Amino acid sequence: MKNVEHIGIAVKSLEASNELFSKLLNRQPYKQESVESEGVNTSFFQNGETKIELLEATNPDSPIAKFIEKKGEGIHHIAFEVEDIIAEMERMKSEGFILLNETPKRGADNKLVCFLHPKGTNGVLIELCQSI
Ligand code: CO
Repeated sequence: MKNVEHIGIAVKSLEASNELFSKLLNRQPYKQESVESEGVNTSFFQNGETKIELLEATNPDSPIAKFIEKKGEGIHHIAFEVEDIIAEMERMKSEGFILLNETPKRGADNKLVCFLHPKGTNGVLIELCQSI
């Protein structure tokens, strides 16, 4: 496990939150990207070594829509950079963590990602991500 690569924040409106975070961080998002398989529109702000990822649902069945329904807007996940995602996934599994996907999947911002079930991580959704 390396640095915190990004913090994911669930928002109702990407447009409104882009404006808000642009003011907060005093910079514009460097990219916007839709991940259809996840039902999300995302935008990314670079802030030092760490990024902020804003996530907006594209449909009512999106995990982000369900998250906001349950908890409201707010921090959705913390993503750690890893060098070898397969090896880290194996290690996590052997430590008893529950993986939400058994094989790495293609995430936003040119990453291979795997999520750990928040049940096993004190309620915090953890993302492992490897740059590709
Ligand atoms: Co993420």
